[in-house]
Amino acid sequence: MELESSPLHPHVMLVSFPGQGHVNPLLRLGKLLASKGLLVTFVTTESWGKKMRTANKIQDRILKPIGKGHIRFDFFDDGLPEDDDVSRHDFTIFRPHLELVGQREIKNLVKHYEEVTKQPVTCLISNPFVSWVCDVAEDLQIPCAVLWVQSCACLASYYYYHHKLVDFPTKTDPEIDVQIPGMPLLKHDEIPSFIHPSTPYSALREVIIDQIKRLHKPFAVLVDTFYSLEQDIIDHMSSLSLPGAIKPLGPLYKMAKTLICDDIKGDMSETTDHCLEWLDSQPVSSVVYISFGTVAYIKQEQINEIAFGVLNAGVSFLWVIRQQELGHNKARHVLPEEVKKQGKVVEWCQQEKVLAHPSVACFVTHCGWNSTMEALSSGVPTVCFPQWGDQVTDAVYMIDVTKTGVRLGRGETEKRVVPREEVAERLREVTKGEKATELKKNALKWKEEAEAAVTRGGSSDRNFEEFVEKLGAKPVAKQNGSLQELEKS
Ligand code: UDX
Repeated sequence: MELESSPLHPHVMLVSFPGQGHVNPLLRLGKLLASKGLLVTFVTTESWGKKMRTANKIQDRILKPIGKGHIRFDFFDDGLPEDDDVSRHDFTIFRPHLELVGQREIKNLVKHYEEVTKQPVTCLISNPFVSWVCDVAEDLQIPCAVLWVQSCACLASYYYYHHKLVDFPTKTDPEIDVQIPGMPLLKHDEIPSFIHPSTPYSALREVIIDQIKRLHKPFAVLVDTFYSLEQDIIDHMSSLSLPGAIKPLGPLYKMAKTLICDDIKGDMSETTDHCLEWLDSQPVSSVVYISFGTVAYIKQEQINEIAFGVLNAGVSFLWVIRQQELGHNKARHVLPEEVKKQGKVVEWCQQEKVLAHPSVACFVTHCGWNSTMEALSSGVPTVCFPQWGDQVTDAVYMIDVTKTGVRLGRGETEKRVVPREEVAERLREVTKGEKATELKKNALKWKEEAEAAVTRGGSSDRNFEEFVEKLGAKPVAKQNGSLQELEKS
C-alpha cells in the first residue's frame, strides 16, 4: 500500500525480530525517525524486552524525547513459557510460533494505540525475519516498509535464488560459482550459506525467502548500506521492477551517532567491565578487538587456537566472551590462563565505542553485517572469520572489494580448525608492515566514504530525508503541540 499524505500525526511502529543483529539497526532507524519529529513505537518480544530492561534504562510505554520527536518501547508475549529458551533457540519451532502469536499481538497493539491512546499507527516498519508484519499491515490497510539488515549483495542473492535468475549450487552440482550482475563472482562457499543445498539452517533460508516473496508489499525497502560501497548491485536491484524502492540509508550506526541519546539502547547485555577506560591505558593501535557477534558459536578447540595465535603474535587484546544466548549444548568459552594475562576479557562491550577507540588496531570478526558496517565506518581493518549465512559473503566484500580485511577462514562448512600459526600470521599481517599500512589506508578511505554518505546532502542522508517526508513528518512546532495533546489522552 502506497503512503499518501496523511492528516494524522505520523506514528511509526517498528517491529523487530528478537536478536541483537536485528534490534540494533531497526532501533537506530527508530531513533533517527523520532529525531525528525515522528512518534515512534519500537516493538519486539517480551523475552528480548526483559534483556533490554536489565541492560539498559528502558521503561515500557514511556515516551522518551529525541530531537524533535519521541520514541517508546512496547513488548509482546511470544506465548512460550518464560524459561523455554530451548524452543526460542530452535528456529524450526520458534519461527512459525512467532508468526502465529506475533500477527495477533501486533494487531492488538495497533488497535490499542488507535482506540486507547488515539495515536493510530500510520506506518509499520519491520526487519526480514518477521516478514509477516507486511501481511498485518496489508490486513489493517496500513502502509509498510522493510529495513533489510544485511548487505544489498545478500538481498540480491536471495532475490536471484528465489526467482531462479542465475544458477546456484544444487545437490548434484554443489560447487558451481555464482555470478549475479553488479556483484563479484562468488564461489559456492561465498554465497549466503543458507542458500546452499547442504546448509543445516534451511529454516533460516525459508524465513528470508518469506521476506523476498513479500517484497511487493512494502512501499520502501530500506537497506543498511551505502551507495558507494555497493553501487553496482544497488543500481541493478533498483532497476528491477520492485514496487518498493531500494533505498540505501546506512551506515545507520554512523547516522545515529549524531543523536544525543546514548541511554536509549537495545543491548542484550550490560557493559560492566570498564573496557573503554582499559583501552585508554593502552598504546595507540596496539589492541586486537575480538568478537564473534551474538549468534555464531565457535568450537572451544578453535577458540584455543585463536587464543594461542594471539599469544604468539605478541599482541594485546580485548575479547568479548558471551555468557548469554549461548543456547543448548554450547558451553561458555574459556581462555587458557597464560593467554588471559595478555589482554582483557569482557562479557559485553559498547562495540561502536570500542571500534572508534584509537588504541584498537584491528578487529577479529565473524563478519555479521552490523560488525562489518561498524568496522568499515570506523576505519578498522579486519581479520575475517565468517561462520555462516551472510557472513561468508560479507567477508568477500571486506577482503576483495574494500580490501580492508584478511581471511582467517572460509566458514563453518570448511570443517577445519585454523591452527594458531595461521592466526598469528594473519594478526601480524594486519598489525605490522606493508600489508597493515595498506589495509589501514583502505579502511580510512571507507570510513570517509561512510561519513560522506551520511553527512548532510550525502546519498544516505538524501534517501533518509525522502523517506521521512513520505512518512509525513510535519513542522516541529505544530508536531510538539499535537504530541503533548496526544500524551494527555
Ligand atoms: C546476526 C547474524 O549473525 C549476522 O550474520 C547478520 O548479519 C545479523 O544478524 P550477530 O551475530 O549478532 O548478527 O552479529 P552482528 O550483525 O555483527 O551484530 C552484533 C551487534 O551487537 C553489533 O551491532 C555490535 O556492535 C553489537 N555488540 C556485539 C555489542 O554492542 N557489544 C558486544 O560486546 C558484542
